[in-house]
Amino acid sequence: MIPVEHYQEAARSISERIGKKPVIGMVLGSGLGVMAEEITEGITIPYSEILHFPESTVEGHAGEMVIGELEGKTVLALKGRFHYYEGYDMERVVFPIRVMKILGIENLLVTNAAGGVNTSFKAGELMVINDHIKMFTESPLRGPNNEKFGSRFNDMTEAYSKELRCIAKSAAKDLGLTLQEGVYAFMGGPSYETPAEIRMLRLLGADAVGMSTVPEVIAASHGGMKVLGLSCITNMAAGILDQPLDHGDVMETSARVRGNFISLVREILKRWEIGL
Ligand code: HPA
Repeated sequence: MIPVEHYQEAARSISERIGKKPVIGMVLGSGLGVMAEEITEGITIPYSEILHFPESTVEGHAGEMVIGELEGKTVLALKGRFHYYEGYDMERVVFPIRVMKILGIENLLVTNAAGGVNTSFKAGELMVINDHIKMFTESPLRGPNNEKFGSRFNDMTEAYSKELRCIAKSAAKDLGLTLQEGVYAFMGGPSYETPAEIRMLRLLGADAVGMSTVPEVIAASHGGMKVLGLSCITNMAAGILDQPLDHGDVMETSARVRGNFISLVREILKRWEIGL
């Protein structure tokens, strides 16, 4: 178990260096880190300068935090997250979310690159997550519960805020962007799924598949945070098209849709009401 003091010391390493208190946390997925460049009046803190923070290892993830202003809101953005497949245990994967919580952040935008499982989706489209399916991996909440972070048996009925989903949909509509909506299935990776696994996920009701987000959303929900999840459908999942999957293509597609992604996030932030 990570001692509570480690979360508190990490939060202190951050709060000592910032002025205004961030109100929205953002986790930027593969190829979506450019969103952080939109932040103004910001400071960048490499993870290595935050006490107890793990270091990010995967290509396309920078491993730094940017805190500053975006569309009139003070945000804290993580460029680079910790994946279960990198070998971190689940508690470490969600470490930054709990640090955000200690910093008083009650709103979270999580983003990711995902494979399209729903055959009506197209690579390059964005999807707002309305629910998730966690396959085969343990929960980040497994083990003794710390009431400081949330209750033992937390409700997941509306882990992805309905209000924020509505805001995302109306923002996309006003921008003239296609925004799919659906269920994100978490697979442990790092191998991409097999075609048989993708058929199984489709039968189970999944629309997209990826290797992140779900642990973070569980920890955020445990902590009572309001969550919005956005997926960039970077490729059709295994077996749908007659071609192999490739990380290079994933990065290329997320680079291609960056513009749409940034416009959508900006528009959502404008409309995101922060509770007192
Ligand atoms: N599967 C799992 N994770 C992913 C995929 C995929 O097809 N695309 C991007 N991340």
